Parts: sequence; structure tokens; C-alpha cells
Amino acid sequence: MGTKMCRVLGLAIAVLFLATPLASAACNKDDLKALLSFNSSFPPHTLHNWINAEDCCSWAGIHCDDGTGRVTSLFFSNNPDPIDLAGPMPPSVGDLSELVGISFENLPNLVGPLPRQLSKLKKLKYISIYSTNLSGPIPSFLSQLPALEHLLMTSSRFSGSIPPSLGSLAKLRYVYLSGNGLTGSIPPSLFSRLDRSVLAILSLGQNKLAGAVPRSFASVAFGSIVLSENRLTGDASFLFGKSKPVSIIYLGQNKLSFDLTDVEYPVENLLSLDISHNEIHGSISEQIKEATKLSNLDMSYNKFCTEESRAEDRLVILHRGASCTTNVCVELLFPHARNRT
Ligand SMILES: *[C@@H]1O[C@H](CO)[C@@H](O)[C@H](O)[C@H]1NC(C)=O
Ligand SMILES: *[C@@H]1O[C@H](CO)[C@@H](O)[C@H](O)[C@H]1NC(C)=O
Repeated sequence: MGTKMCRVLGLAIAVLFLATPLASAACNKDDLKALLSFNSSFPPHTLHNWINAEDCCSWAGIHCDDGTGRVTSLFFSNNPDPIDLAGPMPPSVGDLSELVGISFENLPNLVGPLPRQLSKLKKLKYISIYSTNLSGPIPSFLSQLPALEHLLMTSSRFSGSIPPSLGSLAKLRYVYLSGNGLTGSIPPSLFSRLDRSVLAILSLGQNKLAGAVPRSFASVAFGSIVLSENRLTGDASFLFGKSKPVSIIYLGQNKLSFDLTDVEYPVENLLSLDISHNEIHGSISEQIKEATKLSNLDMSYNKFCTEESRAEDRLVILHRGASCTTNVCVELLFPHARNRT
């Protein structure tokens, strides 16, 4: 049985190898048309190695599927191999119908909103836009991309609110939108269709998001949740829980206010916790001592205020300012934590 299996596998591999040179010999004509249009959207010489039209799969920034020869991903970055795309993202990207991933990174001269034609890319799984001057909204037409799993649009100039329709994407599990000018509140629909056994990552730090953290997030299996440096208010205690898989929780620099006393920490998985610079009150449960992997903890600048300071077991030592609005308990809570970082 083993030998038969090997032979079948061997055959499949041989077919793959045979298919490769044939497929990559000619550029698919629909892909080529879209790429030529893309090329002509930028100033002359931008894509200087895009010369031999027969072999578009070898052009800088283009990746093709070895089997089909179709263009499956675009990767542009002005670093380390400089391709500095200047101008808007060309609508012709939407004509590369087999695209699975697009990356536009470190491109300060890439400007303007995302073209609506991106909504035609029904196989698109990964969008990665990092450090650009792209602007405009996080488009609601992204919800027309049923395969989308990974949406990263960070350190750019996106504004407006996060479209609730993103919650209709059942495969979307990684959402990184930090470092933009996003406003409005966080839509409760986000991750609502994601399988509960799948870990989600949400990163919305450094925006201007306001309102409450959605209560629906209590049942999302976050691996990491970063909401720091916004204007969020109210309760966030439901993000915690003893048996949650979450390892990173960053909620610092908001206006969150809730009682931390009965919060149970996800002690099995917790690596890093920052709830500093909020208006959180109550006390810190001893249960946090069970978080043996925790190496970064910041709870400073909140409203923790207890009558007794328990210096003897170093559990909670609060620096009590006159108004109890600032406290520095963190370093002392885990004296070993500082040395490890
Ligand atoms: C790409 O555009 C440049 C002008 O920037 C042009 O010289 C070149 O021929 C174009 N490439 C192809 C394959 O048409
Ligand atoms: C956006 O453009 C400005 C200049 O117009 C530049 O200083 C800045 O670095 C750019 N931003 C990014 C993230 O590339």
C-alpha cells in the first residue's frame, strides 16, 4: 500500500514539474492586459523591469501560481528593493481575477482611496497595506470579498468609521487597522460570523475610536486584542476570563471605567497586559499570580485605591496620589517582570 501511495504521489509531483515550465512560458493574456494597464498608471520608469511581456510572472512585485501561471499575488514595497509607486492604486488591480493576496507597504507616495474594482476579487484572502498615504474610508465594499481572512490597513491615512458590514465575512479573522484616523464606534458585528473555534486578532490602536467596546466580543476567541490609544469608554471586563485563549490585551490610553475586582485573568495564556491610563477602579485579584507566562504588565494611571497596601506579599502596592487618580502598582506586583524585558 505504501509503495502504491508513493507512486501516485511521485506521478502527481512529476505532473507538477512538467506543468511549470509550460505554464510560465506565456503570461495569461487577461492578466497581462491588467498588468499593462497597471504599468501605464504610474510615471515612466516606475516599473523599470517590466519589459518582456511574454514573462510577466518574472516581473518585480508579481507572483504567479506555478501550476496555472495565473497572477496570484502583488507585493510592492519601496524597501528593500525600491519600487516607489506614486499616485493612486490603479483600478486595473481588480482585473487580476485570480489574486489571492495584495501587499502595498512603505509607499509614501501611494495616495487616494482604494478603488472600488477591488470588490471584483472573489478569491482575495490577504490585504496588506502598511505605511502609505492611501486615504478615504475603510470601504464597505470589502464585505463583498467572501474569501477575505486577513485585512491589514495600518499606518496610513484612512478615516471614517469601520463598516459594520465587515461582520458578514465568515472567514475574516485578522483585522489590523491601527495608526489611522478612524472615528465612530467599533461595530458589534465584527467577527460575529467567525467560527468560535478560530482565533481572532483585532488591532485598532492609535485611532480616534469612541464609545463602548462591543459586548458581543465576550464570545469571540481572541488570540490578541489591541485597542490602545483611542477614546473608548465604559466596561471591558468581559474581554477577560479564566479560560480564554487570549495572550495579549492592550487597552491602555482610553477612558475605560469598570471595576477590576472580580475580573479573572486568562492565566494559562496571558503574556502581556496593558490597561494603563484609564479610569479603572477596584482591586487586582491575587489570581493574576497564576499567570506564569505574563512578562509585561502595566496597570498604572488608573483609579485603584485600597485602604491597605499589602507590601509584605508584594501583591499590590499602590502609590496613592492625593486624589487616587494615579497609581503605580505594576513593577512591584511582578518584580521579576522588568528584568525579563
Ligand atoms: C511599462 O511602462 C513603461 C513606461 O513607464 C514602458 O516603457 C514599458 O514598455 C511598459 N512595459 C511593458 C511590458 O509594456
Ligand atoms: C505621507 O506623505 C508625507 C509627505 O507628503 C510624508 O511625509 C509621510 O511620511 C507620508 N506617510 C507615510 C506613512 O508614508
